[in-house]
Amino acid sequence: MPGMDIQLPQRYAVRASVNTIREVFDYIRQYKGKTFVLKIEDTLIDHPFFPLLMKDIVQLQDIGIHLIIVTGTRATIEKYLAKAKLHTRIVNGIRITTPSAMAHVKLAAMEVAQTVISHLAAGNAQGIMGNWIRARSLGVYDGLDYQYTGHVEKIQTRIVHKLLDQDFIPVIYNIGMNATGDCYNLNTDQIARQICLDMDIEKLFFIRAQDAIPTKGLELPPGSQVHPNGKIFSNMDISHVDFMLCQNKDRLSFENQTLLAYSKAVIDQPQGVKRVHIIDGRREGRLLQEVFSSIGGGTLIYGNQYAHIRQATLEDVPEILHLMDGYIKKGNLVMRTVSDIQNKIHAYHIYAVDHSVYGCGALYELGDGWGEIGAVAVSDTYKSKGIGRGLMQYLIQTARKKQIQTLFLLTTQAADWFFEFGFVWASPSDLPAPLQGRYNPKRNSRVLLLKL
Ligand SMILES: CC(C)(COP(=O)(O)OP(=O)(O)OC[C@H]1O[C@@H](n2cnc3c(N)ncnc32)[C@H](O)[C@@H]1OP(=O)(O)O)[C@@H](O)C(=O)NCCC(=O)NCCS
Repeated sequence: MPGMDIQLPQRYAVRASVNTIREVFDYIRQYKGKTFVLKIEDTLIDHPFFPLLMKDIVQLQDIGIHLIIVTGTRATIEKYLAKAKLHTRIVNGIRITTPSAMAHVKLAAMEVAQTVISHLAAGNAQGIMGNWIRARSLGVYDGLDYQYTGHVEKIQTRIVHKLLDQDFIPVIYNIGMNATGDCYNLNTDQIARQICLDMDIEKLFFIRAQDAIPTKGLELPPGSQVHPNGKIFSNMDISHVDFMLCQNKDRLSFENQTLLAYSKAVIDQPQGVKRVHIIDGRREGRLLQEVFSSIGGGTLIYGNQYAHIRQATLEDVPEILHLMDGYIKKGNLVMRTVSDIQNKIHAYHIYAVDHSVYGCGALYELGDGWGEIGAVAVSDTYKSKGIGRGLMQYLIQTARKKQIQTLFLLTTQAADWFFEFGFVWASPSDLPAPLQGRYNPKRNSRVLLLKL
């Protein structure tokens, strides 16, 4: 029919964007009133997208998220020291700050913080900088005096809370003071970590001028998720971080090792941060994508069960039906009503991200060692991210646990996909007699079998 080809994609595009809008609203509700810490590398400041990143940050505040910005200063310090022709030693990633270098470190800190505040002001947000860090000297290690390099002791949280309550965005830089007012040069990743340990923080972002955690040349922790481009980790939990720090110690860059270790430290606490995001600030919109979409563009490290497959409950039925609706209309799935799903709810399993259903699949126990897999579907928006594979592996594993010996399924358009899991061609006559009666010759589905 003329026009059909044009209307269908439009309708599905509208559905996808409506789903995205719903997802955004869910996240706004979830994060309103919560506090995010954003550690921003100074190497991003000269990037053409930096003003856009700052604009996105202001938008987060506009929807009621409290923000604390920590400014990385390493590159700017290098610039100041080079100008003054001063050389400082860096040992194990830590700069030994001499008294003459300290003056330049302070100038660099002010310059970066001031630039960030100017960008916030351009978006009508009020950044405020101040020294709210109690620090102490790092002292002497292995005979090496780190001089004015310090260690973060604690954050003066009372003041930071007050500022947040008044809608200021505290901008915290790399200088801390001891009780007598001596200044120390601090590591800003460590500052971000300490804020997370001392305050109730929902998310910590490391925004840098390089990609998220890369996979190249690394041994991948089993169960960790990689982006469809295969180049970066999309998410990992604490056990994956342990694996990375243990198995890939020599292959991970020093910076990524430290970041993973800090991430673990802030998540692995009873009141810890729920999620740490490592994102590339040079990619336009990456921050918003990470906050408002369950499958962002950076590396997410999580402690709680972020995405999981579980048995469906009656409350999930509307979402399951909504997910399957488009595929039923296209003929990929057979028609099901609310009561069809409700009556067999124990067979349904879902892939849930936070409170939303992104994939589903059913495992029906048919007796005599037979089982059937059906209703396998993944939301259009989240296809090709391994969700379908995860669901199938889960259903096959569950079938094995239930002592099912033969699994079958009927499919019209996805036979090739099921072959990956070991399914083979069969015909309706291979099914036990009672099941043969259920075969609909009009639909002419392909029959696939898997011996467990
Ligand atoms: C089939 C389906 C469940 C796969 O879910 P998914 O989460 O996208 O799958 P995965 O991410 O694990 O795998 C994606 C891979 O499978 C391939 N694939 C997807 N659908 C396929 C199909 N019908 N036939 C062959 N391969 C297919 C993709 O091309 C992709 O390949 P790539 O990784 O090389 O890019 C999903 O596409 C879907 O919901 N389809 C419509 C409903 C349907 O047909 N269900 C089966 C009815 S029984």
